[in-house]
Amino acid sequence: MEVIICPDAEAVAQLAAAKVERVARDRGPEPVIGVATGSSPVALYDALAARVASGELDLSDAHAFALDEYVGLPPGHPESYAEVIRRTVTEPLRLDPARVHVPDGRAQDLEAAAAAYEDAIAAAGGVDVQILGIGSNGHVGFNEPTSSLASRTRIKTLTARTRFDNARFFASADEVPTHCLTQGLGTIMAAHEVVLVAQGDGKAEAIAGLVEGPVTAMVPGSVLQLQRRATVIVDEAAASGLR
Ligand code: F6R
Repeated sequence: MEVIICPDAEAVAQLAAAKVERVARDRGPEPVIGVATGSSPVALYDALAARVASGELDLSDAHAFALDEYVGLPPGHPESYAEVIRRTVTEPLRLDPARVHVPDGRAQDLEAAAAAYEDAIAAAGGVDVQILGIGSNGHVGFNEPTSSLASRTRIKTLTARTRFDNARFFASADEVPTHCLTQGLGTIMAAHEVVLVAQGDGKAEAIAGLVEGPVTAMVPGSVLQLQRRATVIVDEAAASGLR
């Protein structure tokens, strides 16, 4: 794992976009990109979208797999990750919607939907580059503390802290779903390359645990210490807890 500290959030986005672009080119045709939702990768997606708009980068043959999805939101709910990915990734990066996958959080049989998602990733040849953010409690995807380091896509219960953190996207905290489908830590670790971005001092404790703490299920992101091609790109505020 490599850690890169950038002077500010814009530099984080530009460096991360350059890494994703390089992997997409090197591993193409039909590169497979793992995409996160949340605030952290928004500027990275903007930077990639600018490269696509200028004609410098063409991702029309890329496949994309979202990390996770809430369980039980109605179809078309603006905060469902299917919708968030459409707005922030598929359209601006001009991806082919038929090649963009999000776990089916409305499936009758959630276990079967989780297994089908693992199968779809495998059928695409695995993820070439996985984009990640990190939760303030150290989660990646929705793998909350105590998640098995070997876990695969499955149903998880969201912690009170994550529901509180994500309440800003909903009218009230009570509207944040209690469950999700998420790629597991084992799924994320199987990506050829991982790029995690974090900005701001609210992520300092999580980044310190990820980078310098023991590898532990209590800080799920710490498993990335064992991923040889993981790059953690942070601004100075997110790096402020590092020794
Ligand atoms: C998003 C995801 C989460 C977020 C994390 C950080 O698909 O799986 O792990 O990356 O909660 O969220 P933000 O970036 O909003 O601080």
